[in-house]
Amino acid sequence: MNKNHAIFSTSFWMEPVQVPEKPDISDSYFEPYVIDDDDRFYQDLRPAQLVCCPLTVSKPVKKAVLYATAHGIYTLYLNGQRIGNQEFAPEFSPYQKCLMYQSYDITPLLKISNPANAAPSLLTMVVAGGWWCGHVGLSGDNCQYGDRLAILLECHIEYEDGDFEIKDFSEAKSSPSHIRYADLSVGEYCDASAAPDWRRDGLNRNDARSGDSFGDDNARNDAGTHWLPLKKIDLPMDNLVPQIGDGVQIIKRLTPHALKQMPDGSWILDVGQNIAGYLEISLDAKAGCKITLEHTEMLDEKGEFLRCIKGRHKEQRDVYITCDGQQSWHPSFTYHGFRYVKITGWPGVPSLSQFHACVLSTPLRRTGFFECSDARLNKLHENIWWSQLANTISIPTDCPQREKAGWTGDAMIYSETMCLLSDAEAFLRRWLSYCRAEQCPDGSVPMVVPYLRQYEKFAAKVGSHTSAGWGDAIVIIPWNLYFHSGNVEILEENYAAMKAWASYAESHARNGLPANFSEMDSERQKRQTYLWNTDFCFGDWLLPSVMKQPGAVPMDSAAKTAELMASAYYANTIWLMEKVAGVLKEQEDANYYHDLHEKIRAAFMAEYVRPDGTLTHEFQGAYVVSLKFHLVPRKLRAQTARRLCELIAQNDDCLDTGFLSVHLLLDVLAETGHADVAYKLLFQTKCPGWLYMIEHGATTIWEKWDCIGSDGSIGAYSYNHYAFGCVGKWFYTRLAGIVAQAPGYRKVRIRPGHDSGLTHVRATVETPYGPLTVAWEILSGTLRVETVIPKEIDARLSLPGREIKLANEKSQNWCSLID
Ligand code: BGC
Repeated sequence: MNKNHAIFSTSFWMEPVQVPEKPDISDSYFEPYVIDDDDRFYQDLRPAQLVCCPLTVSKPVKKAVLYATAHGIYTLYLNGQRIGNQEFAPEFSPYQKCLMYQSYDITPLLKISNPANAAPSLLTMVVAGGWWCGHVGLSGDNCQYGDRLAILLECHIEYEDGDFEIKDFSEAKSSPSHIRYADLSVGEYCDASAAPDWRRDGLNRNDARSGDSFGDDNARNDAGTHWLPLKKIDLPMDNLVPQIGDGVQIIKRLTPHALKQMPDGSWILDVGQNIAGYLEISLDAKAGCKITLEHTEMLDEKGEFLRCIKGRHKEQRDVYITCDGQQSWHPSFTYHGFRYVKITGWPGVPSLSQFHACVLSTPLRRTGFFECSDARLNKLHENIWWSQLANTISIPTDCPQREKAGWTGDAMIYSETMCLLSDAEAFLRRWLSYCRAEQCPDGSVPMVVPYLRQYEKFAAKVGSHTSAGWGDAIVIIPWNLYFHSGNVEILEENYAAMKAWASYAESHARNGLPANFSEMDSERQKRQTYLWNTDFCFGDWLLPSVMKQPGAVPMDSAAKTAELMASAYYANTIWLMEKVAGVLKEQEDANYYHDLHEKIRAAFMAEYVRPDGTLTHEFQGAYVVSLKFHLVPRKLRAQTARRLCELIAQNDDCLDTGFLSVHLLLDVLAETGHADVAYKLLFQTKCPGWLYMIEHGATTIWEKWDCIGSDGSIGAYSYNHYAFGCVGKWFYTRLAGIVAQAPGYRKVRIRPGHDSGLTHVRATVETPYGPLTVAWEILSGTLRVETVIPKEIDARLSLPGREIKLANEKSQNWCSLID
């Protein structure tokens, strides 16, 4: 056992006595949904474990710090009071390599035992499966890291008289708790009638507190089980690291909007906002009422409850058995993606004031603010923020209901917007450290980080555990973070991992030759080694035109788009590597990447770009990435861009882009002189389009453009994916017109989007030198621009026909828009 750890030098991992989870291995990801009966928890779900331990101090304490972590997720209480406000500690990380422990200053909560106050303090810990052994991810399998819970606790006490003591809690006792099961995906079942005062007293106050009877293994708690000593166990400690950054918290409590009774007597509560979190209920009741709370993001066409997330273990269903009297409760070891809650078993008639929706997120300080003359865009901007909140729970996730997984591609697409809306540096840097930890020796970065074991089955099916565009997150996100903050450290700490990914892509491009290689002429054969055209790739994922074909599945859009997309992202990664190596003064590397990029670019043009500027693959995303990544000869750019506009026009003025191109689409159009088309797409209310979601009542960003069909049909998809929220960036860069031209906003060009049809825009972004605000409005044909720009920034304002160097922190400029 490694006891070299500075904090847990004297304590041991301890296991409560428990029935280990049975690994659950599914073959099908979307088995038909079955609501199990109440006995379910005896079969495949385990109770949260309650651990209690007296904490005796008999002289005045200067400082007491409690250190804790778990295999599972935990909450802690001292003398009935919650310690800290972190939810789901120790959070989600690649546990084998990095498991965070938390430290809590418990000095104010400690009681000193003396003749007048004989009882020691009581430390209570509740621990549940979480990501360690609960059901998670796409397949809903459990036991991704282990099949049993374990805890690690140590308290360091500095006394006022100068003495120092370490308490290791080896005399702790445990018992299955009144939380009959608690699972991140399934939900939580709390029987408060079994242990009304457990927080303050442990399961059995007298037994737990008075030294003797606490030690009595035969003392039965109210749940009918025994207090038993925990088992010391030899588990690794060399993966322990102190908590990095803020943990998950309840960041807001919303008062729901509406409550209606259904014909079957149940109630449907509308929170008014799609969120990630849980419901807090308050009521006065007799013991033993069973209240069931089922969560969903959407009601069906008739306004009735609908389970719109398919799959095993995706119930999002909490059960609460009341105790006697006034009580309030929310779950602690699960969270749901929901706007609506179906409530059954409520004693009497509920009222709105008895409910609060607790919004969970990692508290990232909001730094981006945007407001304009079109209420629909303002709503879209808010929806993006809500989707970000729901998908920054410990790690950047794809969605808060179906998978809660760290899909790398989603984070890559959204990262620029995340940097603009919030101070995301610490959060994303922590997750990038997980990407580095999960990177394989061959340089590949798994499609999901932390890499849950179950995705290996998916990887085996598709033949790869990574994908171009997804693994590229390890290059693109550090670059975006660096460009936003100017902080070179971000590139330094990721450089080795970025290089390893680049060489993975390079070797796969070089060694993977297409099946028809032997039929190619020698020129064409030569360039195949510079195209990443063989491995599995998700491609322009969820391409709308493919997805609307009858019977289409998401993999169809991968099949259609993978080859060109993978080659384009490969080119982009090598191009970025050249820039990164330049910043880090790795000249030799920069030269290498420069040469390689030239070759990839030449190969791409020869293979995919026709002499008239059209592409061999006719889908919008192909045009977008080819233009954005400069993979079209300069002299053909205008023609290529025109063809992109034609494709858009032929598609009823609607976008037809998937995950790998949607975040670049509007930029490319504006950069190639087609801002009018970009605006058409932004303001499009037909499907696919962002305002289609708004006009269909969205309060977050959907995973698929037609989650609600134009016929009103409700799709079984996620209504809370931040990926398509990537358009948020454009609100700042194009509509407000704040364009950073050098890393960390050293140089900025303000080019107000007065051609957008909007009549005013006001936006603020945070630069390393302080907030930068641009507010413009058009009044009677005059454009008036007010700017507040930190003085360290070299800023220029572009107005029609005029360039102004902004010399003062605050300036106002005018220009007539009438010729
Ligand atoms: C996720 C996506 C992810 C994709 C892979 C989905 O199940 O929800 O957002 O990127 O799989 O293509």
